[in-house]
Order: sequence, then C-alpha cells, then structure tokens
Amino acid sequence: MPEKLTTVRTVAGLRAQVARWRAAGEKVGLVPTMGALHEGHLSLVQAARRRGADHVVVSVFVNPTQFGPNEDFSKYPRQEDSDAAKLETVGADLLYAPDVGEMYPDGFATTVHVAGLTDGLCGPLRPGHFDGVATVVSKLLLQCLPDIAVFGEKDYQQLQVIRRMVRDLDVPVLIEGAATVRDESGLALSSRNAYLSADQLAIARQLNGVLFAMAERIAADPARCRSEMEWGLERLREAGFDRIDYLAVCDAASLEPLEVADRPARILAAAFIGRTRLIDNIPV
Ligand code: PAJ
Repeated sequence: MPEKLTTVRTVAGLRAQVARWRAAGEKVGLVPTMGALHEGHLSLVQAARRRGADHVVVSVFVNPTQFGPNEDFSKYPRQEDSDAAKLETVGADLLYAPDVGEMYPDGFATTVHVAGLTDGLCGPLRPGHFDGVATVVSKLLLQCLPDIAVFGEKDYQQLQVIRRMVRDLDVPVLIEGAATVRDESGLALSSRNAYLSADQLAIARQLNGVLFAMAERIAADPARCRSEMEWGLERLREAGFDRIDYLAVCDAASLEPLEVADRPARILAAAFIGRTRLIDNIPV
C-alpha cells in the first residue's frame, strides 16, 4: 500500500522526513515544480520511480525570482488542493510547499549563475530567469538532498543549465531528463496553456508540427539548417503566432547554434500567442 501524501512547508520538516527514509536505506527522488500540475509533471513522478526512487518528493513553489517584471508571477495558477489530489493518484509521497519567506528569508543575498549555456535562446530574452532557476533548484536540491532529481525535456535549456550547475558545484545528485508529454494534437502540456482561448489553442497546436517537419527535413539534408529555419519561421507566421522569440537548431548539449546538423541536435522555439509565451523543442 502506498503511503498517503503528506505536506510539509519547512526545510526542517522536509529534512526530517527524508532522514527517516535514508535511515531505512531507501532512495529518494525529487521532482521540482511550480504547481498547476498536469500529466507532464505527473510523468516525472513516475519517471523518478522507474529510475529507482523508493519515495518521491514533489516541490510546489512559484519562484518569484525567475519571473521578469512583466511576466505572469502574480497570475500564475496556484491550486494546491487539486495538485495534492493529482499527486496522490501517482503515488507521490511528500509534497513540499514552502512559502516565499521560507525559501528567501530576510537578507537572502546569494545567486547561482551558469554562464555560457544561458547566453542564447531564452537567456537574453528573459534576463535573470535562469539565475532564478539555478538558485532555487540549488536550494531545493540542498534542502532535500535526494538521490535523483527529474526534470522535463520540455524546458530543454533549463535541463542543460541544471545539469551544468550540478556538475560544477559537485551537488551529489543524479539529474534525469524525461520526455515531453503532449496532448493528442502534439501540443506540449504546459500550465500556461490554460491562458489560451479556443482560437489561440488552435494556433498553439501547430507549433509542434512545424518543429517535427523541420526535424525531418534537416535529417534528410543536415546542411540546410539555415534555410529550414527560414521555412519554419514562415510556417509559424502563417499559423498565426504573434511574435516569434526564436526558432533555432542547436547542438543538443552545448546549445550552440548549428549551420550543419552533423551531431546530435535539437530544434528549439519560443513564440507568443497574444500575451502567452509558449516553448517547445524536439531532437533532430
Ligand atoms: P514547471 O514549469 O512547473 O515545471 C516543472 C517540471 O515539469 C520541469 O522539469 C518541466 O520541464 C516539467 N514539465 C513541464 N511540462 C512538461 C511536459 N509537457 N512534459 C514533461 N515534463 C514537463 O520548470 C519549472 O517549473 C521551474 O523552473 C522549476 C524547475 C520548478 C524551478 O522553479
């Protein structure tokens, strides 16, 4: 019988529970989230289990430091009760839901900055975003000290930034990436999809199709990255995207832009529909 989901709100409460599992020789997995959970988040809990976690901790914390001044921090959906109910269905053991004061006590003064990987793609368009992510994920990992932590490929640049941070700071945790969960149209599930009207959703659903078509075309002719990007941008404009932040073919590990896809590569995109910003990415 799985244990019932427990909620803790303090670092001390989290550490006490993790220490009990550790003392019993059991492996702990951590899945960091900002809540408004959907099947994509829940798949990470299942991935943690498949990869050997006996117990899975899910953190829900809408991290203020990773939102820009004109972003959606205040309206980001907060729904802890339904999140807890969803976590029970996949057998998560512990919900860690600290408030902002617990995470950032008065006088908090430290930032984790990962250079290089944050220079392109979302980095320059969302100044401070990845510092906010790297700092809060460092804290979550040190607060919980899990054996493994699972992150979605949906946020591919974030995943690479976290891998680099953990390697550079010798954080003793195994970082696992998990495949993007999509709806029946292929749209990557996202808490932000809830902002879209029916008409906007129809536009959003075309993003993944353009990326998959580009991946096929580039696989057939790896030297055509630049012209396929032009082709993809045109398709996204036709589909009705309002502003395309980027559409790029990058080295899958370093995220450097590629002219020729002669090594493992990733196509990444960020585009607005109205005020809602969507991102997606797929391998070539
Ligand atoms: P959030 O957007 O809530 O996402 C939490 C985790 O779920 C991330 O690892 C993200 O990549 C993953 N995820 C989101 N949508 C997914 C999908 N459709 N399929 C698979 N995985 C998906 O990412 C964050 O929160 C924050 O930046 C966080 C890492 C928690 C730090 O605050």
